[in-house]
Amino acid sequence: MDEREQSGQAQAAPSVVLGVSGGIAAYKACELLRRFTESGHDVRVVPTAAALHFVGEATWAALSGKPATTEVWESVHEVPHVRIGQQADLVVVAPATADLLAQAAHGLAHDLLTNTLLTARCPVVYVPAMHTEMWENPATQENVATLRRRGALVLEPAVGRLTGADTGKGRFPDPAEIFAFCRTVLARGTAVQDLAGRHVVVSAGGTREPLDPVRFLGNRSSGRQGYALAATAAARGARVTLLAANADLPVPAGVEVRPVGTAVQLREAALAAAADADAVVMAAAVADFRPATYATGKIKKREGQEPEPVALVRNPDVLAELAAERRPGRVVVGFAAETDDVLANGRAKLRRKGCDLLVVNEVGAEKTFGATENEAVILATDGTETPVPHGPKEALADRVWDLVAARLG
Ligand code: CTP
Repeated sequence: MDEREQSGQAQAAPSVVLGVSGGIAAYKACELLRRFTESGHDVRVVPTAAALHFVGEATWAALSGKPATTEVWESVHEVPHVRIGQQADLVVVAPATADLLAQAAHGLAHDLLTNTLLTARCPVVYVPAMHTEMWENPATQENVATLRRRGALVLEPAVGRLTGADTGKGRFPDPAEIFAFCRTVLARGTAVQDLAGRHVVVSAGGTREPLDPVRFLGNRSSGRQGYALAATAAARGARVTLLAANADLPVPAGVEVRPVGTAVQLREAALAAAADADAVVMAAAVADFRPATYATGKIKKREGQEPEPVALVRNPDVLAELAAERRPGRVVVGFAAETDDVLANGRAKLRRKGCDLLVVNEVGAEKTFGATENEAVILATDGTETPVPHGPKEALADRVWDLVAARLG
């Protein structure tokens, strides 16, 4: 219990600065602001002058319950250009335009937002949104790399419809996902971004092995554990590639998703993505077998005839293949879903697969699949066994990344 709790005072609401720069996605930042205020955060909006062309001061003030100031020359006696950044628990700039990223990377301080960025000692999250050409421009990419190197969290933009008729990378991610990301960062506080500069690959969901155009062999994996791994890695600063096998979940902010269907497709995507990865976590439930033949037309029942048995062939073992590559410095993590002799089977599987870490959990009709909580033991090749008590899948994900980060040094 801290002093405030002992004296009966309520815990202060987390103090969030929402910086808004001048892009059309400013209107989506209104929803982000509402999510913060409705969940008890104390939010100060600091728009740039350009942002006010898109959404006016009155909207920001009404939604936040505070004046939304742009310049350093207002309320000078309160020294806002220093105080706002100093007092924040989190600064999130959403949207962050190419121009704002350039100013931040160069330490310019023309207005209240850029001054705030220079004085903030808390985690700073940038949510870039711009046209693909601007995002891919080497100047922008170098500015982003500079900010990340200094410890800022710069989300990867989403892919999709941009302003006007064009589509591509540069879209503002779903405000609900940005909010979830910021909550994770706030919960971690000023904890080090121990995966900053790292590329991690996570597989999630379950593969589907088609029998004919309408049927497949599949499994009950929801993808939640893999998505939790992707989201927590992004919050710790990693660049994340998520190989999503038939998972119907919202894309975590800042994560690049590559959809896959079958085990063979997952293998191809995993080998390609893992080529420059620092860590690969195979959380997907990969079908061990697939139908030996694929019927191009729907298999029909025939009157008076028994159905043909379905012949199966082995699928490639992606985890074992990645582990066998033995790339120096790359950490490979597997998952084992077991119903009986959980630990003994897990230890044998760790040896058989050849990975560095194996997360072993017990599965059953009511356990793990589709649930938001999990419990597991993480086995390591050095013989250590780390039990993770029953809790949110994000907590298990964070323990996995703790052990990965320790191995990456
Ligand atoms: N896995 C994989 N490729 C496969 C099967 C599994 O990459 N063809 C990975 C999973 O992503 C998981 C781990 O291997 O990380 C464990 O999978 P599991 O199916 O539990 O292990 P199996 O080797 O299939 O062992 P068994 O079926 O005997 O339990």
